[in-house]
Amino acid sequence: MRRSLKTGGLEVSGKKIIAGNPSDLSKAWTRYYDLLAAHFIERIGRRRLRVILEAGCGKGQLTIPLLRRLPREVKMIAIDSSKGPYAGWLKELSQELRTAGLEKRVRSFRSEARRIRGIEAESVDIIVSNELLCDLPYDSQLEKALTEFYRILRPGGFMIHGEWSSSPAAEPQAFLVKHWPSWTPDQLFSIMRKNGFHDFQVTYFERTIHFGYENALKELQTWGATEKFLRRNDTVLKREGIELPYEHIMQCEK
Ligand SMILES: C[S@@+](CC[C@H](N)C(=O)[O-])C[C@H]1O[C@@H](n2cnc3c(N)ncnc32)[C@H](O)[C@@H]1O
Repeated sequence: MRRSLKTGGLEVSGKKIIAGNPSDLSKAWTRYYDLLAAHFIERIGRRRLRVILEAGCGKGQLTIPLLRRLPREVKMIAIDSSKGPYAGWLKELSQELRTAGLEKRVRSFRSEARRIRGIEAESVDIIVSNELLCDLPYDSQLEKALTEFYRILRPGGFMIHGEWSSSPAAEPQAFLVKHWPSWTPDQLFSIMRKNGFHDFQVTYFERTIHFGYENALKELQTWGATEKFLRRNDTVLKREGIELPYEHIMQCEK
């Protein structure tokens, strides 16, 4: 039988972070991203790293725990298009960085990943992203971003991209990921290889968050679920809550 235990006031059951109540939600996300940052750092390993660029940094959910785990001399460039449902996220990032005392280590600015302005060719050692590629759902969009990534990476540079998988973490929640177009590792391999990258590896980030009913409703609303959808699934949400899908992490080199 799997035992659950409390870490940092949060219940953790195996690889599952439990966000049963509204008061657990932000702690659960913080824990999730901290562990995800640790996974990215492990993949980066002992590679030479002076400049790292995060594309689609959002409000810094991954940026901040990554920075905390990187040597102080590493410079981070954080870009985001910060529009549509994500308008204002870069501003939130600036505030979060100031609160964390990390603002001097990051240059953040608004930029489209498909046309990165102000970054010289071959000037970046490592590019990371999380949940960016699913916002580039067409081949042509992804290829434009990959062309830019290839341009700014130095020869031998490294790239690592995380994305929630299209397969649900738990069967009853298959409905949850249906609206979530994500690239499969096979598709990413083929399109990235075509764009000049090599030495691919895929790992899986086996953590998930279990959201209790109220948290599930809140999360689904932020992910664009309609009232009709929520009403239709109310019974299963009450009974099961929802679980975040697992992430696949694709890494490769230039
Ligand atoms: C789902 S959020 C992920 C945010 C953060 N990386 C995380 O892991 O929580 C996607 C982010 O990518 C940004 N984004 C989407 N398409 C983009 C593009 N073409 N160029 C730059 N940023 C983009 C959005 O503005 C948003 O902040």
